[in-house]
Amino acid sequence: MKVKALVLGAALSVVAMPSFADLELAKASGCLACHSVDKKVVGPAWMDVSKKYKGNAAAKADLIGKVKAGGKGNWTEVTGGVPMPPYSPRVSDENIGKLVDFVLGLAK
Ligand code: HEC
Repeated sequence: MKVKALVLGAALSVVAMPSFADLELAKASGCLACHSVDKKVVGPAWMDVSKKYKGNAAAKADLIGKVKAGGKGNWTEVTGGVPMPPYSPRVSDENIGKLVDFVLGLAK
Protein backbone atom coordinates (compact mmCIF):
# COMPACT_ATOMS: atom_id res chain seq x y z
CA MET A 1 0.00 0.00 0.00
CA LYS A 2 2.68 2.40 1.04
CA VAL A 3 4.80 1.38 -1.96
CA LYS A 4 1.91 2.00 -4.33
CA ALA A 5 1.40 5.46 -2.91
CA LEU A 6 5.08 6.24 -3.36
CA VAL A 7 5.10 5.05 -6.96
CA LEU A 8 2.00 7.07 -7.72
CA GLY A 9 3.52 10.11 -6.06
CA ALA A 10 6.69 9.77 -8.11
CA ALA A 11 4.74 9.38 -11.34
CA LEU A 12 2.69 12.48 -10.59
CA SER A 13 5.71 14.58 -9.76
CA VAL A 14 7.37 13.57 -13.03
CA VAL A 15 4.32 14.70 -14.96
CA ALA A 16 4.36 18.01 -13.10
CA MET A 17 8.04 18.64 -13.83
CA PRO A 18 8.85 21.33 -16.36
CA SER A 19 11.26 19.24 -18.38
CA PHE A 20 11.77 15.57 -17.92
CA ALA A 21 14.84 15.45 -20.20
CA ASP A 22 16.66 18.15 -18.24
CA LEU A 23 15.82 16.49 -14.98
CA GLU A 24 17.21 13.21 -16.31
CA LEU A 25 20.39 15.07 -17.27
CA ALA A 26 20.60 16.50 -13.76
CA LYS A 27 20.17 13.04 -12.34
CA ALA A 28 22.79 11.52 -14.65
CA SER A 29 25.18 14.34 -13.75
CA GLY A 30 24.83 13.67 -10.02
CA CYS A 31 23.16 17.00 -9.17
CA LEU A 32 20.11 15.42 -7.60
CA ALA A 33 22.23 13.99 -4.79
CA CYS A 34 22.19 17.51 -3.35
CA HIS A 35 19.41 19.37 -5.17
CA SER A 36 15.74 19.04 -5.90
CA VAL A 37 13.51 21.42 -7.79
CA ASP A 38 11.23 22.34 -4.94
CA LYS A 39 13.02 21.72 -1.67
CA LYS A 40 16.40 22.17 -0.07
CA VAL A 41 18.45 18.98 0.08
CA VAL A 42 22.13 19.76 0.70
CA GLY A 43 22.10 22.60 -1.80
CA PRO A 44 19.30 25.13 -2.24
CA ALA A 45 16.06 24.19 -4.05
CA TRP A 46 16.53 25.01 -7.72
CA MET A 47 13.22 26.85 -7.73
CA ASP A 48 14.67 29.21 -5.10
CA VAL A 49 17.84 29.64 -7.18
CA SER A 50 15.67 30.53 -10.16
CA LYS A 51 13.66 33.07 -8.13
CA LYS A 52 16.79 34.63 -6.69
CA TYR A 53 18.29 35.38 -10.11
CA LYS A 54 15.09 36.17 -11.99
CA GLY A 55 15.62 39.17 -14.25
CA ASN A 56 19.39 39.16 -13.65
CA ALA A 57 21.01 39.09 -17.08
CA ALA A 58 24.43 38.22 -15.68
CA ALA A 59 23.14 35.20 -13.76
CA LYS A 60 23.59 32.64 -16.51
CA ALA A 61 27.33 33.25 -16.89
CA ASP A 62 27.78 33.45 -13.11
CA LEU A 63 25.99 30.19 -12.47
CA ILE A 64 27.80 28.39 -15.28
CA GLY A 65 31.04 29.50 -13.62
CA LYS A 66 29.80 28.28 -10.25
CA VAL A 67 28.78 24.84 -11.52
CA LYS A 68 32.08 24.48 -13.40
CA ALA A 69 34.40 25.60 -10.63
CA GLY A 70 32.28 25.12 -7.51
CA GLY A 71 31.99 27.67 -4.76
CA LYS A 72 30.05 28.80 -1.73
CA GLY A 73 28.75 31.86 0.01
CA ASN A 74 25.56 32.59 -1.91
CA TRP A 75 23.31 30.27 0.10
CA THR A 76 25.02 30.12 3.46
CA GLU A 77 21.81 30.89 5.36
CA VAL A 78 20.16 27.90 3.64
CA THR A 79 23.03 25.42 3.57
CA GLY A 80 25.07 26.38 6.61
CA GLY A 81 28.05 27.10 4.36
CA VAL A 82 28.38 23.75 2.56
CA PRO A 83 30.17 24.33 -0.77
CA MET A 84 28.89 23.45 -4.24
CA PRO A 85 31.45 21.04 -5.76
CA PRO A 86 33.18 21.73 -9.12
CA TYR A 87 31.69 19.88 -12.11
CA SER A 88 34.03 20.70 -14.96
CA PRO A 89 35.29 18.62 -16.75
CA ARG A 90 33.13 15.83 -15.24
CA VAL A 91 30.10 17.38 -16.94
CA SER A 92 30.60 18.89 -20.40
CA ASP A 93 30.28 22.64 -20.93
CA GLU A 94 27.32 21.98 -23.18
CA ASN A 95 25.49 20.06 -20.49
CA ILE A 96 26.37 22.58 -17.78
CA GLY A 97 24.81 25.25 -20.01
CA LYS A 98 21.68 23.14 -20.39
CA LEU A 99 21.43 22.54 -16.65
CA VAL A 100 21.81 26.23 -15.82
CA ASP A 101 19.19 27.15 -18.44
CA PHE A 102 16.89 24.59 -16.90
CA VAL A 103 17.39 25.92 -13.36
CA LEU A 104 16.99 29.57 -14.38
CA GLY A 105 13.87 28.73 -16.39
CA LEU A 106 12.01 27.21 -13.44
CA ALA A 107 10.52 30.43 -12.04
CA LYS A 108 8.54 31.77 -14.95
C1 HEC B 1 27.59 17.74 -2.91
C2 HEC B 1 26.34 18.48 -3.04
C3 HEC B 1 26.04 19.17 -4.37
C4 HEC B 1 25.99 18.62 -5.63
C5 HEC B 1 26.25 17.18 -6.02
C6 HEC B 1 25.56 19.69 -6.52
N1 HEC B 1 25.37 20.85 -5.82
FE1 HEC B 1 24.75 22.63 -6.59
N2 HEC B 1 24.96 23.48 -4.76
C7 HEC B 1 25.34 22.83 -3.61
C8 HEC B 1 25.45 23.79 -2.52
C9 HEC B 1 25.82 23.47 -1.07
C10 HEC B 1 25.12 25.05 -3.08
C11 HEC B 1 25.12 26.42 -2.37
C12 HEC B 1 26.46 27.12 -2.62
C13 HEC B 1 26.51 28.51 -2.03
O1 HEC B 1 26.20 28.69 -0.86
O2 HEC B 1 26.88 29.45 -2.78
C14 HEC B 1 24.81 24.81 -4.49
C15 HEC B 1 24.42 25.81 -5.36
C16 HEC B 1 24.04 25.60 -6.68
C17 HEC B 1 23.55 26.63 -7.56
C18 HEC B 1 23.34 28.10 -7.20
C19 HEC B 1 24.69 28.77 -7.19
C20 HEC B 1 24.68 30.21 -6.74
O3 HEC B 1 25.78 30.78 -6.65
O4 HEC B 1 23.62 30.79 -6.45
C21 HEC B 1 23.32 26.03 -8.78
C22 HEC B 1 22.81 26.68 -10.07
C23 HEC B 1 23.67 24.63 -8.64
N3 HEC B 1 24.10 24.41 -7.34
C24 HEC B 1 23.60 23.70 -9.66
C25 HEC B 1 24.08 22.41 -9.56
C26 HEC B 1 24.19 21.51 -10.69
C27 HEC B 1 23.78 21.85 -12.12
C28 HEC B 1 24.71 20.34 -10.21
C29 HEC B 1 25.09 19.09 -10.99
C30 HEC B 1 26.00 19.27 -12.12
C31 HEC B 1 24.91 20.51 -8.77
N4 HEC B 1 24.52 21.77 -8.41
C32 HEC B 1 25.40 19.54 -7.90
C33 HEC B 1 25.57 21.48 -3.45
C34 HEC B 1 25.65 20.58 -4.50
